[in-house]
Amino acid sequence: MRLVLFGPPGSGKGTQAPFLTERYGIAQVSPGETLREDAREQTELGKVAQTYMEKGELVPDDVIITLIRERVSWPDAAAGFVLDGCPRTLPQAEALDRMLVAQDAPLDRVLYLKVSQEVLEKRLGGRWTCPHCGRVYSEVVPEKTRGICDDDGVELIQRDDDQPEAVKRRIQVYIDKTMPVLEYYRRKGLVLELNGDQSVEEIRDEIMRALDGGD
Ligand code: AP5
Repeated sequence: MRLVLFGPPGSGKGTQAPFLTERYGIAQVSPGETLREDAREQTELGKVAQTYMEKGELVPDDVIITLIRERVSWPDAAAGFVLDGCPRTLPQAEALDRMLVAQDAPLDRVLYLKVSQEVLEKRLGGRWTCPHCGRVYSEVVPEKTRGICDDDGVELIQRDDDQPEAVKRRIQVYIDKTMPVLEYYRRKGLVLELNGDQSVEEIRDEIMRALDGGD
């Protein structure tokens, strides 16, 4: 199964993706997470990506397209993948299509998490991340000891791009550059629209029902 998880910053893509990987035995492909890992390790790619990410801007298309091409060729993606936060521009969507056409392996579904702006701001403001391992915590996924990562005991922080100015910019970039990708997929009849304001479990169940029932 080949899926795209689509939605604005904070809509819950990263939260839902692991359910899909587990249920369908597919790989999670998250450019944002990969780039944050690179930034933590201060690789050349990470240093460049960080300058865009901390301001809430998109990383250039050629970087993302190369990253996706490489990642979907890994063995764990042989049975399929869920792309979390990609494609985010029309050139990325077109490049992905060309890649998949060449493999005769088209996308099955684009799962669109539609979330109100008020809920997005609340979720992003309440997200805490481990600077060491990247694990995410919030009201719905709380840590055991307040402010401390369960896995490695490191103090949790807020992502640079979860600061109010960067959040505003990310939402504007989403409207300007990423929303056209949704229309692109609507024209192909691939979009399944979900109410992303619901609880994590309600959204998960709605996705599973649609995918298992073939809605
Ligand atoms: P990326 O990491 O992809 O960030 P994003 O798309 O902005 O999404 P987020 O990670 O902020 O949110 P999410 O939808 O995954 O929500 P989450 O599940 O964490 O990208 C970061 C940056 O990398 C970009 O700005 C860009 O610079 C670069 N980048 C990445 N991909 C790129 C691309 N293709 N092209 C160019 N640049 C790219 O949930 C958010 C919070 O809400 C969490 O705390 C969670 O616990 C909570 N939550 C989740 N679901 C629910 C629920 N149903 N109810 C209550 N709380 C919930």
